Amino acid sequence: MSTGLIQPKLIIHGGAGSSLKGKAGADAVRRSLYAVITEVYELLLAGTDAKSAVIRGCQLLEDDPRFNAGTGSVLQSDGQIRMSASLMDGTQQRFSGVINVSRVKNPIELAEFLQTSDDRVLSDIGALELMRELQLPYYDPLTKIRLQEWILEREGNFDKAMAGVVAERELVSEAGRGTIGVVVLDSHGRLATGTSTGGKGFERIGRVSDSAMPAGNYANAHAAISCTGIGEDIIEECLAARIVVRVTDGMPLLKAFECSFQEAHSRKRDFGAIGIAADGTIAWGKTSEVLLAAYHDGEKMGDTLEMGPGTQTQCRVSLV
Ligand code: GLY
Repeated sequence: MSTGLIQPKLIIHGGAGSSLKGKAGADAVRRSLYAVITEVYELLLAGTDAKSAVIRGCQLLEDDPRFNAGTGSVLQSDGQIRMSASLMDGTQQRFSGVINVSRVKNPIELAEFLQTSDDRVLSDIGALELMRELQLPYYDPLTKIRLQEWILEREGNFDKAMAGVVAERELVSEAGRGTIGVVVLDSHGRLATGTSTGGKGFERIGRVSDSAMPAGNYANAHAAISCTGIGEDIIEECLAARIVVRVTDGMPLLKAFECSFQEAHSRKRDFGAIGIAADGTIAWGKTSEVLLAAYHDGEKMGDTLEMGPGTQTQCRVSLV
């Protein structure tokens, strides 16, 4: 007899950007991503709902100093860390987020709280007030390597477009575009997505990331998408919402990725995205050199680390 439950799906990313240096770089990132996939997929098999699984996945990625979100976030031009995160529950089509928050361990937890608030997106001072209200302890997400990176860039007058995609200097060839993201289809068919970032790094004070906008993180009952890369490019393509609307209007997820990434390629955009549709299709795409993503399709884990250079879109179709 059918239980009415479906096989959960999960895809996560740890940024997109320039090539990782050699196989050692890819292996180190793969280990980090697979550890998160393993923990979150077990939760999904145990019946955890999509939104809670997304929050847990984001916490784990925010806590990994390798990635540019939470601990290990990059510094802005004035040497301060300002992080942004958002959460979208596809079932309720509800978006919440925080913009340019400091001194918090897991920005996604503020987004989680705001899901049930009348005011669902808060910026710096408001987010700080919320932290006080929730009695969250102050936390310094600064790591030594990010500080060293900032000092070096300051000497170079901040001429890089963005900070490194992952923290270890030896793993990255040049500039990258770090963000983390988690997309889930749970065993009841509910979709959710979360995205969190330290921003581009070395940017102007007050610059706002796409990660706490529907352009960078969007979901409804049909599809859920998380983006990574140059925020300005993602905003101008309205990438996450664009893919979700295409799927809602009847386009299969992979086709929606293909159309959106062809358009992005023609406009020389620099980013990547991951997503899941309600039919269980998992898809990803990039215009940047690499996309650091991994997934669980219900049968096994896989990743996007060996994808070749250039604009590409791919998917895993497995029945729900
Ligand atoms: N996608 C992250 C940022 O541009 O801030």
